[in-house]
Amino acid sequence: MNDLAFDTTPNSLEAYWMPFTPNRAWKRDPRFVSRAQGMHYVTPDGRQILDAIAGLWCVNAGHCHPRIVEAIRHQAGQLDYASSFGLGHPAAFEYANRLTEMAPDGFNRVFFAGSGSEAVDTALKLALAHHAIRGEGQRVKLIGRQRSYHGVGFGGLSVAGIGAQRKHYGPLLPGTSHLPHTHDPARNAFSRGRPEHGGIAFAEALEGIIQAQDPSTIAAVIVEPVAGSTGVLVPPVGYLERLREVCDRHNLLLIFDEVVTGFGRLGAPFGSQALGVMPDLICCAKGMTNGAVPMGGVLVNDRVAAGLMSQPEGMAEFMHGYTYSGHPLAAAAALATLQVYQEEGLFQRAADIAGTWEDAVHSLHDVPGVTDIRNIGLLAAIEFGPQEDKPSPARAIAARCFDKGVLIRAAGDSLVLSPPLIVSTDQINEIVETIRWAARAG
Ligand SMILES: Cc1ncc(COP(=O)(O)O)c(C=O)c1O
Repeated sequence: MNDLAFDTTPNSLEAYWMPFTPNRAWKRDPRFVSRAQGMHYVTPDGRQILDAIAGLWCVNAGHCHPRIVEAIRHQAGQLDYASSFGLGHPAAFEYANRLTEMAPDGFNRVFFAGSGSEAVDTALKLALAHHAIRGEGQRVKLIGRQRSYHGVGFGGLSVAGIGAQRKHYGPLLPGTSHLPHTHDPARNAFSRGRPEHGGIAFAEALEGIIQAQDPSTIAAVIVEPVAGSTGVLVPPVGYLERLREVCDRHNLLLIFDEVVTGFGRLGAPFGSQALGVMPDLICCAKGMTNGAVPMGGVLVNDRVAAGLMSQPEGMAEFMHGYTYSGHPLAAAAALATLQVYQEEGLFQRAADIAGTWEDAVHSLHDVPGVTDIRNIGLLAAIEFGPQEDKPSPARAIAARCFDKGVLIRAAGDSLVLSPPLIVSTDQINEIVETIRWAARAG
């Protein structure tokens, strides 16, 4: 074997402890990919697998884009690593300039991290620092939401709302509360785009939580504009707008975790632009580098940035940072990715094809067992309720789809879909027809 190719299945699978994976079961029935191009993975035995989830919500421009591959190759040979603690390298500055040009108005600074989890923890710390510097250091409490995913750091996990992911890790950060989730299938099942019912009431629950704690003790509210990992929960009409109003009323920062919704997923650079509601901090990762090199970041609005920058000069304005903040390979990959998004008009493409996507996924409404279908931009979920005391078949359906050549993901009772923004109409049909076949084959 050519040592650099990694094209065959390894002899032993024991040593690698895979994340968020039932390792022993997986290793009895492993599924491998060893190459990728465009919309497809390729298995070691040469089967093409259509990627209906953009890797893990990240490969928005399609796999192994030549421009991005070349940028990484070139950067690796020119400057492999440089610390960003008091030392600069051009690619990170160049990328920060380009990214903030694309960000919503008033977001002119970005703090780099190495992943979505790190971006979330960075944003939570920025919120606390913001209040401390304003002389309101008692504002230390954080509000998240049920059924939310904010990565796996202790900060992100504390504001996240998926019980199974928290149960072994004790009380986590003190002083966190959770908004109710917005999934209301009784009223909103089979909504196309933003559901009609419940937006104002779900958001007004924030007022109750704030009053129960006292507003002067709370630093920030963090939500995913569209909850991704928990099953593509689309915000009902008026929901995000009302959250913004309640935060303003009490001087709380509003943080949008756009790790999934950033970089074109909703047909605009960021979900906040697509949905028309501006937070104070935007977490991003994933599509930043098209998934090719780990990277995360927090876009900071001018108000928050000005507060931190008002501190005396000569010491770090934000006592925080990672060895890999602004990593040269990540910055080079991110710059090339942004160029690809812009030159190929991929965000507009996502907007243009979203209607075709919506019609296609909703055509599954009469498949036996389907209890809800949700979509926005190039995201969708197909929910299969538990049937006659049997668990939801979502996982088994996802496994059958892989065997038939389409990669999709099961999240709880739902199949979640987030194809690369280059997906064609034929490929959309292939995804939907494979799900239809797999659901009926059960
Ligand atoms: C909304 C959201 N936030 C944070 C994260 C964590 O990102 P990472 O896995 O890069 O740490 C994810 C990952 O899926 C996510 O979906």
